[in-house]
Amino acid sequence: MEEIRELFLGTIKEKIEKLKTLEEAEKLRVNVFGRNGMIKSKFKEIKKLSPEKRAEFGKVLNNTKREIELLLSEKIKRLKEMEKQNEIIEKTVDLTLPGARRSFGRLHPITQVIQECVDVFSKMGFEVVEAPEIETSYYNFKALNTPEWHPARDLHDTFYVDDERLLRTHTSPVQIRTMESRKPPLRIVSPGRVYRKDYDSSHLPAFFQIEVFAVDRDISIADLKATLENAIKSILGKDKRVRFRPHYFPFTEPSIEVDVSFLEGKNRWLELLGAGMIHPQILRNAGLDPNEWQGFAFGMGIERIAMLKYGIDDIREFPRNYLGFLKNF
Ligand code: DAH
Repeated sequence: MEEIRELFLGTIKEKIEKLKTLEEAEKLRVNVFGRNGMIKSKFKEIKKLSPEKRAEFGKVLNNTKREIELLLSEKIKRLKEMEKQNEIIEKTVDLTLPGARRSFGRLHPITQVIQECVDVFSKMGFEVVEAPEIETSYYNFKALNTPEWHPARDLHDTFYVDDERLLRTHTSPVQIRTMESRKPPLRIVSPGRVYRKDYDSSHLPAFFQIEVFAVDRDISIADLKATLENAIKSILGKDKRVRFRPHYFPFTEPSIEVDVSFLEGKNRWLELLGAGMIHPQILRNAGLDPNEWQGFAFGMGIERIAMLKYGIDDIREFPRNYLGFLKNF
């Protein structure tokens, strides 16, 4: 009798131990306790026994049944816990995994250079002012001593919105607008987009300039020179040399052009900006008395500065917006 019990219990015990999922456990439960299950078929064997042995056999079978039930229900409990654990693991973020790299955006190199220039001039006491990109021909030309017949207009051909309004060709109109609306002393820096009929490796139809000017009671060309040298060295590096050449602009007298050294040792110079002392007629046009007020002014191309700063030889790289290029800044 004991032998039957051992054998029966042994095989089922082994099966219970091998169970891996609740599904398997359920199958085994049906197999053992189901209507055509192993227990039922063992009980059927009772009939074959002599009446004396039947009672004992029944008792042993019932005990065995209870033992199996206990073993199986314990196993099921453990399996349930395991599955719960697995579910938690599946649903939880694994903080030890390497992160997905996220690439951060950044400012366009031209925006960076604008901000840097504005920063340099702000620290020197200049105030940031903005002016419209659609300008009247009066502010863009006439008020800056450039009447319609003036040859300087050739270099400033632009897009006209209507007979009177155009896309500004330089940031200089901000001089007139500011002097008209505010009393000097003035120290102004004004960055912005300007437009011309140009397109090659060093010219764009839409580009950026930064206009800087000061109006006060006794401003001389020495102030212009000191401001420029200081600013250029701050922006482009202390090793840069600056060269002044006489030039002509309708709105300054005297006028100069300023070059910066590049390819040190090879004595190469790059034209960077136009400058001068504000023409007395410009002050008059804006309602100021030139006997009382003087000023200096200069305007520089932002892309030119960026090209020098980063060693770029084609200005068209900037508006191309090719990521491989932009990622270098
Ligand atoms: N507006 C001139 C240009 O775009 C540059 C310039 C020259 C600006 C002389 C100035 C200046 O303020 O004084 O070509």
